[in-house]
Amino acid sequence: MKNTVTTFLQAKQKGIKLSMLTAYDYSTAKLISNSGINAILVGDSLGNVILGYEDTVSVTMEDMIHHSRAVARGSSDSLVVTDMPFMSYQTSVYDALVNAGRLMKEGRANAVKLEGGKSVCPQIEAIVSAGIPVMAHLGLTPQSVNAFGGYKIQGKTEQSAKQLVENALAVEKAGAFALVLECVPEKLASFITSKLSIPTIGIGAGSGCDGQILVYQDMLGMFSDYVPKFVRQFSNVGEIMVQAFKDYDNSVKNGEFPTAEHSYSIDDEVIQNVINEYKD
Ligand code: KIV
Repeated sequence: MKNTVTTFLQAKQKGIKLSMLTAYDYSTAKLISNSGINAILVGDSLGNVILGYEDTVSVTMEDMIHHSRAVARGSSDSLVVTDMPFMSYQTSVYDALVNAGRLMKEGRANAVKLEGGKSVCPQIEAIVSAGIPVMAHLGLTPQSVNAFGGYKIQGKTEQSAKQLVENALAVEKAGAFALVLECVPEKLASFITSKLSIPTIGIGAGSGCDGQILVYQDMLGMFSDYVPKFVRQFSNVGEIMVQAFKDYDNSVKNGEFPTAEHSYSIDDEVIQNVINEYKD
């Protein structure tokens, strides 16, 4: 059954935990969707894990649309949420509406996600009014890495913790159907979760959130540039891949691959006629 925004709201009401993973391509989306994961985020983390940038700032609308379309084709049951990239919504309500519309129409997303609190509430209201579900994102919002001066835990001081609560209440009021909390102290995230009627999805925000999200390369051990404290590696697929690449390399170089099993046959008479035609 396809997960929808209603699935998210009902899960919150019934106290059922929600699972999310990122994906950026068709094959991975298909595997994730067939695993019972509620939603796939086409995250702008694709800037880091797919494109090799040091941050998400350079990711474009074209990048997001391209990957969102691929994920949407592979996701049968998971809700597809696509990130609005840096400067696609901060500039104006009009830009936000046009770009959210493109992610739905061209990227075939089921919902969009954007970063920020009170300052982007007019954008959230306008997008939701147009019939597009919005997931909000607070705490460590990676698009603001330059303003934060690095990737740091948010909400540690009384003032910043109160600000986070205010922003969470504001995005809920503006119409967001869910809220990602990234790198927020566990007790603060639990408190925010208790104050909201929309589900919170944590990443580095402890177990008190209504759901969890991880970047799939992180949880599979495929991305070693840096591994944040909040990541659990559920497998070491990176090692398995490297071993398979080495085995392939050896097999090709020592002539073990391909064998007849992986080759196509041709009628003896046909090939003999071809050879005869080109005889010196
Ligand atoms: O882009 C992304 O992958 C995200 C998650 C880390 C929440 O925003």
